[in-house]
Amino acid sequence: MHLHRYEKYWLYFGIGTLIVFLSVLGVGAFAMGQHPPSHDAVVDPLQVSETPPFDDPGLVQIDDHTYVANLVAMTFGYRPNTIEIPVGSTVIFEVTSEDVIHSFTIPGTNVNMMVMPGHVNQATHTFTEPGSYLVICNEYCGAGHHYMQMTIEVVE
Ligand code: CUA
Repeated sequence: MHLHRYEKYWLYFGIGTLIVFLSVLGVGAFAMGQHPPSHDAVVDPLQVSETPPFDDPGLVQIDDHTYVANLVAMTFGYRPNTIEIPVGSTVIFEVTSEDVIHSFTIPGTNVNMMVMPGHVNQATHTFTEPGSYLVICNEYCGAGHHYMQMTIEVVE
């Protein structure tokens, strides 16, 4: 069979593109160590309610304007269900799950992370406007998924 010269060029081009694509994918997915939105902290998902700080979830103030919020996601809610912070606060959310994959999503902000059981998933946000912020779950997690929520009260 005789291949036309241009067919041959396009064949090489196609194979070359495929190799480049697979290399980028391989490097991105494996060599760079993709992982959940965490800082590599892990927790046994079966022991969440006995493991500090998740045995007593809630807010911990670490300086004048900064808090850590240790939160547990579960079917179908978050512990605690409400937190209250002064306006201008920066909150480091550290969220784990005691069952399946959930998400921790605050619409209107850039906080939208998966909550993987076994990991302490971390996101940070500064609340510059007072108000009541709804947190919702974006990952389908079962029959009560649509009711899974909590609130962040940002007060003057
Ligand atoms: Cu939790 Cu959907």
